Amino acid sequence: MTGTTTDTLEHQASLEATLKGEILRMYEEVATQPEGDFHFFTGREAAELFDYDPALLDRAPPEAIASFAGVGNPHLRSRLEKGQTVLDLGSGAGLDGIIAAWQVGPSGAVIGIDLNPAMCERARANAGASGTQLQCREGRMEDIPVEDDSVDVAISNGVINLSFQKRKVIRELFRVLKPGGRISITDIVSAKQLSQNIVNDPKLWAS
Ligand SMILES: C[S@@+](CC[C@H](N)C(=O)[O-])C[C@H]1O[C@@H](n2cnc3c(N)ncnc32)[C@H](O)[C@@H]1O
Repeated sequence: MTGTTTDTLEHQASLEATLKGEILRMYEEVATQPEGDFHFFTGREAAELFDYDPALLDRAPPEAIASFAGVGNPHLRSRLEKGQTVLDLGSGAGLDGIIAAWQVGPSGAVIGIDLNPAMCERARANAGASGTQLQCREGRMEDIPVEDDSVDVAISNGVINLSFQKRKVIRELFRVLKPGGRISITDIVSAKQLSQNIVNDPKLWAS
């Protein structure tokens, strides 16, 4: 490996570690102090903006709604059926996973994955309060802690944009999906190349 390649890899590893620290910090705040001021939409206001069914919001645990963060509504196209196994990538405090769990019913399963232990703790408490079997596994979307060929539908809401290794995330999603499995995600893409000031700002990336 040349000196330049090693320098670049070290620089990338250091940027990735800074980004991970900022994401952990920011989403711990969303989990524990959801009334705070964030660069992104949160809570019931966000869910209503993204057309979540108000009847489902009325039924969901208030703590799952308060710490909800997302960029859209992955349920509009998920077409979940009873008995299916769903993966919720970056499951946060659990609102999306709980809505999915109501759709697949007790014969199905919803596996949430989240980097943040505080979020997983919230998701487990909210799953209990909602009477659903949503699980939360602490782990990274770049290395999904789920077996190969085991998921019918993967959902995700505003999560893949947070990754430093998006191709790896997509490869992981295809690894865990069963043949014929489906993906219903809402995320952020930019049609324009972002300026270096934005790309190098961990606070903006983490948002
Ligand atoms: C926008 S929120 C999604 C919220 C969620 N769908 C809900 O129902 O409230 C993004 C979540 O992705 C998690 N996250 C960020 N980077 C991650 C990674 N590399 N692997 C797994 N989860 C990650 C964050 O901790 C946060 O809980």
